[in-house]
Amino acid sequence: SEAELAERVRIAKATLGDRVVVLGHFYQREEVVVHADYVGDSFQLANAALEHPDAEAIVFCGVHFMAETADLLSRPEQAVILPNLAAGCSMADMADIDQVEDCWEQLAEVYGDMDAVDANGLVPVIPVTYMNSSAAIKGFVGRHGGIVCTSSNARTVLEWAFQRGRRVLFFPDQHLGRNTAKAMGVPLEQMPMWNPRKPLGGASVDAIEDARVILWHGFCSVHRRFSVEQIEKARAEHPGVRVIVHPECPMDVVDAADEAGSTDYIRKAIEAASEPTVFAIGTEVNLVQRLAAEHPQHEIFCLDPVVCPCSTMYRIHPGYLAWVLEGLVDGEVRNRITVPQDVADPARLALERMLAAKP
Ligand code: 13P
Ligand code: SF4
Repeated sequence: SEAELAERVRIAKATLGDRVVVLGHFYQREEVVVHADYVGDSFQLANAALEHPDAEAIVFCGVHFMAETADLLSRPEQAVILPNLAAGCSMADMADIDQVEDCWEQLAEVYGDMDAVDANGLVPVIPVTYMNSSAAIKGFVGRHGGIVCTSSNARTVLEWAFQRGRRVLFFPDQHLGRNTAKAMGVPLEQMPMWNPRKPLGGASVDAIEDARVILWHGFCSVHRRFSVEQIEKARAEHPGVRVIVHPECPMDVVDAADEAGSTDYIRKAIEAASEPTVFAIGTEVNLVQRLAAEHPQHEIFCLDPVVCPCSTMYRIHPGYLAWVLEGLVDGEVRNRITVPQDVADPARLALERMLAAKP
């Protein structure tokens, strides 16, 4: 039963003490989050992994790319554990390393020498990857002078990239790339989309030459479901409602909302509201329900509560958490995530550039 599982987790954690730290992403179900030592967005949890050099094991209740990132940032002796290895991210899977290498080669045919610096000190293109990507992709980015971003620092990172390159190749999430670049004043005509199944990404040579930001054809299956109609319905039913959406939502949804921001931005906006307010939120429903429970003075609802849990986040069940923790008690490391050395070094470089990038 649920209560028995929770008890098994508690006993194992109490036995392990400081030897283990449990991290939980905001999108995790409540039965998992209650056991987490730290709850946060992907950026905050990456930092939490860095800040626990003494723990033998980091149990990451989130998805595969987050556990890889924790492995990159933790000490080599520390084991990073993903309770269910099937907890992936469909968006991260949309940018495959072979496709990205192939894209780079095709771009080089248009732009010429990719390392050549022009009179302004800029190379032709800087690759930027969203945190929601495999370690192999982060490694690619690190090897080609690029950088990682999260939804909370995408603008700062794009500014960093434009100080070094004439253009940006942004993957895997087209929406985060488009919404961020648009807010910075980049015209839509200068943001061609790269579809890896088509020659030259389905774009013309002219479009590739004129590009400021080349957007990869990826998306989050949770956030792309939010719609302008849902926002209109919320406004009709709740006059004065404040609509905040995540920048992984499509551009028309971000434009129709009052504000757009990362998971952490949404939390802080709600915490800062001094008057009782109605909030309609466009992000993962587990987070929205937790925020509603934490702030009873406000009315907080998800723009689409029916279709918007993240199904892969949901694969972290308390039963798996108990199983990996009990393994550690028995001296057995289960479901360890290890990034190979040749990928880890450049991927870490791309992450460190992000951690050092300042607004
Ligand atoms: P953040 O944790 O950076 O807000 O990302 C949202 C997300 O989609 C996580 O998978
Ligand atoms: Fe991936 Fe979207 Fe789920 Fe985040 S919410 S893990 S981006 S599928």
